[in-house]
Amino acid sequence: MKKTFGIIGAGHIAQTIAKFLIESGNEVLLSNTDQEKLKGVVSQIGDGATAASVSKAAEADVVFLALPWLKVPELGAEIGSWENRIVVDATNHFISADFQVAELDGGASSAVVADHLPDARVVKAFNTLFYKILEQDPQQNGGKRVIFLSGDDKEANQEISALIETFGFAPVDLGPLSIGGLLQQAKGPLASLNLIKQ
Ligand SMILES: NC(=O)c1ccc[n+]([C@@H]2O[C@H](COP(=O)([O-])OP(=O)(O)OC[C@H]3O[C@@H](n4cnc5c(N)ncnc54)[C@H](OP(=O)(O)O)[C@@H]3O)[C@@H](O)[C@H]2O)c1
Repeated sequence: MKKTFGIIGAGHIAQTIAKFLIESGNEVLLSNTDQEKLKGVVSQIGDGATAASVSKAAEADVVFLALPWLKVPELGAEIGSWENRIVVDATNHFISADFQVAELDGGASSAVVADHLPDARVVKAFNTLFYKILEQDPQQNGGKRVIFLSGDDKEANQEISALIETFGFAPVDLGPLSIGGLLQQAKGPLASLNLIKQ
């Protein structure tokens, strides 16, 4: 059966991911806090995008987090259990407009996300590149732009790797959040690295 996709958020990263999902033949539910704004976003994206409530988008088989990291606890409070669904965490743990990050004592920001989302299989991806780079054609100079991912559930990582490939990117699986998450999160060594795999 065809997978369903939901996005929590409807801003820059959400719209970029929605575009890749739709271009690769999927439909997507987008959600936010402002339903009027959301109507404008989905009509601008066009066929394949539908406005939904946060709880409806969160029921999809694969749910992308494209909201501010500081808002994740609110989301966690709203959704009691994620029932083993995959949640792709595209957030960065910024706590201010000037890109200060939360102090996590050496922990992975996506591990904090996972703690707020009971029974979710969290895969970190799509957080390292500025959306204006991410939205460009992933095929560049005969190669493919790299998208890093990490997560503690190998099957979920494989499923998201395959999805990333269908978008036209080259996925690079960095392993569990305690290793890969730290490498790819904001201020980590892979943040903002725009690589093309030949
Ligand atoms: N911008 C980038 O280039 C980039 C790159 C990589 C990763 N990221 C990360 O991706 C996330 C989103 O960034 P963005 O640039 O796309 O931000 P953005 O354009 O400001 O969009 C944020 C979206 O989150 C929604 N939102 C806020 N609180 C929410 C809640 N409680 N429930 C549901 N939706 C909520 C907002 O909806 P309302 O407008 O209705 O409040 C808005 O649609 C951030 O964690 C950021 O660090 C961003």
